[in-house]
Amino acid sequence: MMALAHRLCALWLFLVSVQAISWTATPFNPPSVPLAVRTPYLSAWLPQGSGAALNDVWPTFWTGSIVGWAGFVKVDGQAYSFLGAPSVPGANFQKATQKSSQFTATQSVFVLSAGPVEITVYFLSPVEAKDLVKQSTPFSYMAVTARATDGGSHSVQVYSDISAEWVTGDNSKVATWSTSTVNNVITHQVQLQSPAVYTEINDHTQYGSAYYSTLNTASATYQTGQDTVVRAQFINNGRLPNTQDTAFRAVQDRWPVFALAHDLGSVDGNSEPQVVFSVGHVRDPAIKYIVAGGGTQDRHLYFWSQFNSVSSLISSFLNDFNNALTRAWSFDVNINSDANKISADYASVVALSVRQAMGSMEITVSKNSDGSFNTNDVIVFMKEISSDGNVNTVDVIFPAWPILLYVNPQLGKFLLEGLFRYQATGLYPNKWSVHDLGASYPNAIGHNDGNDEAMPVEESGNMLIMALSYAQKTGDTSHLSQYTALLDQWTQFLITDSLIPANQLSTDDFAGHLANQTNLAIKGIIGIKAMSQIAQTLGDTAKASNYSSIAANYVSQWQTLSASSSGQHLTLDYNDNPSWGLAYNLYADKLLKLNLFPASVYDMQTAWYKTVAQPYGVPLDTRHTYTKTDWEIWTAGIVTDTATRDLFISSVKKYASSGSSNQPLGDWYETTNGAAEGFRARPVVGGHLALLIL
Ligand SMILES: *[C@@H]1O[C@H](CO)[C@@H](O)[C@H](O)[C@H]1NC(C)=O
Ligand SMILES: *[C@@H]1O[C@H](CO)[C@@H](O)[C@H](O)[C@H]1NC(C)=O
Repeated sequence: MMALAHRLCALWLFLVSVQAISWTATPFNPPSVPLAVRTPYLSAWLPQGSGAALNDVWPTFWTGSIVGWAGFVKVDGQAYSFLGAPSVPGANFQKATQKSSQFTATQSVFVLSAGPVEITVYFLSPVEAKDLVKQSTPFSYMAVTARATDGGSHSVQVYSDISAEWVTGDNSKVATWSTSTVNNVITHQVQLQSPAVYTEINDHTQYGSAYYSTLNTASATYQTGQDTVVRAQFINNGRLPNTQDTAFRAVQDRWPVFALAHDLGSVDGNSEPQVVFSVGHVRDPAIKYIVAGGGTQDRHLYFWSQFNSVSSLISSFLNDFNNALTRAWSFDVNINSDANKISADYASVVALSVRQAMGSMEITVSKNSDGSFNTNDVIVFMKEISSDGNVNTVDVIFPAWPILLYVNPQLGKFLLEGLFRYQATGLYPNKWSVHDLGASYPNAIGHNDGNDEAMPVEESGNMLIMALSYAQKTGDTSHLSQYTALLDQWTQFLITDSLIPANQLSTDDFAGHLANQTNLAIKGIIGIKAMSQIAQTLGDTAKASNYSSIAANYVSQWQTLSASSSGQHLTLDYNDNPSWGLAYNLYADKLLKLNLFPASVYDMQTAWYKTVAQPYGVPLDTRHTYTKTDWEIWTAGIVTDTATRDLFISSVKKYASSGSSNQPLGDWYETTNGAAEGFRARPVVGGHLALLIL
């Protein structure tokens, strides 16, 4: 089924790719446009491929399944659709014409004309990483403004609804719903009749509720009911009757929708009235986490420490829209200006990556014994997404690490905290670092059998590098002192196994096992040197100098082992002269300012990559012609000339703007033709910020 669906999709894309896009796209048309992307379960995208307008197709969950989200505007009695692809038999409406689309780090903005009126639709998914309450709020905004373009005044009404597809991955499940007006906000709440805590179907959560809300101004009306009935009601009347359908039924049974409408009254060319909707999904508890002794604790989204009900959270969120928009523009302008110092292509890739990376994470707290929330106990959880559903995969946090250092290094600490704390219990039996905290999000139940996907050198090196990186960035050495024993244990393992790495997986597990991986050895040796610096920081100078000399000794041996006989490049694996690969782990040498590997290695690799570039980039290694966007950008961070740096960046931009996929950006793709491989929507695109933090 999946394969067939993908093939049909590919065919459709081939057919439309011959058509030119009729709107202005700034900075470019991405494969899929983030609409409401804040958590692994609040993740709605516009699958535009090589050119679908906001009202050509339905928004989809990151997996590609539809999440019904419709929008209509009425102008002088004529209805136009602006969002989604609703069919409303017997009702008379046209499609508004998309004039432009734009994305920034936190927003996607579409301008459409509806007769003599132009509407602007803002999708804002805030990124407010330093405010844990706001960042943990699982809600996004859609705002619509209207303005006349013909010098006249026109009567305008705006409508939007969501379906119950927002609460399940199985549309045959029965949903229940209700509508309330609290704190001057109208809210539709939808959930499964039989929720199942901590479970997923097709990557959708199976418990908690979706919420669709708007301010209860004088112009606001609402309705719940069958999609065609409710939409026809608005199309015919421009308002809703404030009635509720209470015949609870399956999501796909006469598709119930949850609709809100506003009458903007008379709109001219000067005033630009706005209506704001919020969409979100809240579940509680959010995460099951293993604790010492092997039991588990329930963890809750951080915002609960500030709000005692979802309705008060929504009220605060909706009333904050104008300020949130101002803060978002300021964030967007700053990150754009930082990234533009590298290049405009780079700024566009960064902007596309931010919501995708941040939308993989949830910030949680535990409860005290008296039931209050313990804000001194924060753990951030990240879903791996699309490659599998693992929790806090170390080699997924690692590529995403640059965005954490950029937006708030504290979030990085809170991601590592769950991994450190679990392994400090002694429940994990291996001497190297665990791969992840649990096979299936949101169950962070550890791997007490030690049978997680083993990446021994990879994850041990990653933990050491990230721990030191956080301490360097913030001056906070609490993890280093609290978890010294674990860090040292992993270093001992690296001393044994990183110069001559055994046959094992690296993070690029899709490429298979391999012994003597040059790039993996780089990571292990950097890990040893990182522990030397950690020991120095903690005042253990004897250990610091011992590990420092071990690392230096390994580097000189590694130079012989890893060199191709041609003298032109590093090998992919020792004794394999023609082989080569992206030596992206050298990025950690730069990030940590270790100067461990000689400049000649950087110069050699810089010269080499130019000679092996394919039309869409530099392959990951000689086993295949595919590559990874995150590792290309990391490699852009280590090369010593601007032309080679820009070759990597423009390759990623070329792929991301090629229209060859309609999925949320995939980090794994084919360098010969720009086709996406199997991954999509993964947090590793946070690594695209690598050049912002050097
Ligand atoms: C790994 O490299 C070392 C050093 O060249 C060599 O002795 C060993 O046989 C290699 N291992 C494998 C599995 O190729
Ligand atoms: C240096 O560290 C290694 C690995 O832990 C250990 O075997 C060795 O004894 C240490 N050397 C000194 C001088 O402490």
